[in-house]
Amino acid sequence: MANTRSLLVLPGDGIGPEVMGEVRRVIDWMDRKRDIHFDLSEGLVGGAAIDAEGKPISAETVARAKAADAILFGSVGGPKWDNQPFDNRPEIGILELRKQLGLFANLRPAVVLDPLVDASTLKPDVVRGLDIMIVREATGGIYFGEPRGVETLPDGQQRGFNTESYSTHEIERVARVAFDLARHRQNRVCSVEKANVMESGLLWRQVVTALAAREYPDVDLSHMYADNCAMQLVRNPRQFDVIVTGNLFGDLLSDLASMLTGSLGMLPSATLGAVDATGKRPALYEPIHGSAPDIAGKGVANPMAQMLSFAMLLRFSFGLEAEAALIERACTNVLASGLRTADLMSQGTAKVGTHVMGDAVLRELDKLNG
Ligand code: IPM
Ligand code: MG
Repeated sequence: MANTRSLLVLPGDGIGPEVMGEVRRVIDWMDRKRDIHFDLSEGLVGGAAIDAEGKPISAETVARAKAADAILFGSVGGPKWDNQPFDNRPEIGILELRKQLGLFANLRPAVVLDPLVDASTLKPDVVRGLDIMIVREATGGIYFGEPRGVETLPDGQQRGFNTESYSTHEIERVARVAFDLARHRQNRVCSVEKANVMESGLLWRQVVTALAAREYPDVDLSHMYADNCAMQLVRNPRQFDVIVTGNLFGDLLSDLASMLTGSLGMLPSATLGAVDATGKRPALYEPIHGSAPDIAGKGVANPMAQMLSFAMLLRFSFGLEAEAALIERACTNVLASGLRTADLMSQGTAKVGTHVMGDAVLRELDKLNG
């Protein structure tokens, strides 16, 4: 084998293991049919790691994540761990990985596939052909800002507080990712903050504007307040190409954008770090849906967001564009054939479970591969 590609798979909680099971079949398929080999290992994260190892992610798993070429992540959390202390909750698993690996740029595409144009709660005319990319900053902002905590005031009341903070460097590096992506798309970037209320937003706007003038004069840059952006995403989402925003606004806006496409169960994401001295770029791939505890273990979850996350992994971490496109085309064709998991049901379609959906994607891969 010419070069090994090391992959750490972290299925996590809830529907994570089920949908990852279907992706494992796609990984095997790539091995058998396309000669694409992975040196694959699995680890625990989130509630599963709390149960087995006492914490949401062990130092050993973080070390393995750092050593891997790419990480394929499922989802974390669930009611079972609601009573965990705040600093030992399952979500720490993903937050630690982002922080420790410096995964600052979270790419969340929202694409409306033709067969799903009727699955959106918005009118087909509003969402048909939609293709936007949200670039969410993922290692800073109010998620990580200091000071943070809960304190007791002199009068006995409590006060909870967090800090929104962004430095020039943090803003520039994520904005560069957005501008670079835009150049391969429609060349438009909309930068989103609350510069009308927050100093961190004001700085964000100034830094993005200066960077565009200096390094990206060819890219069409606009600015929008986050509340207006939420409204515009529902009113006329196709006005956007690339959106770049901070951690919290990006969390909210990407959930919102996902529903434009019909289901949270369809959307993958990539979270990328900086290229290091050896040329390696840390990268983690995860669906944007959560662990969906209400349907976990029932075999009804949609595996496509996890499969499409693997497609992003092939494209961004290994330059395997043809294989990434194969998976994407296979998913689209299966949906076009009328098969749907429960999250995507509409009139005239046939409801299938997670595993049958996996079967269908594999069959379609075979067909496309000739
Ligand atoms: C996401 C999730 C996470 C986040 C949670 C699980 C910590 O909602 O990836 O969007 O808030 O970033
Ligand atoms: Mg979220």
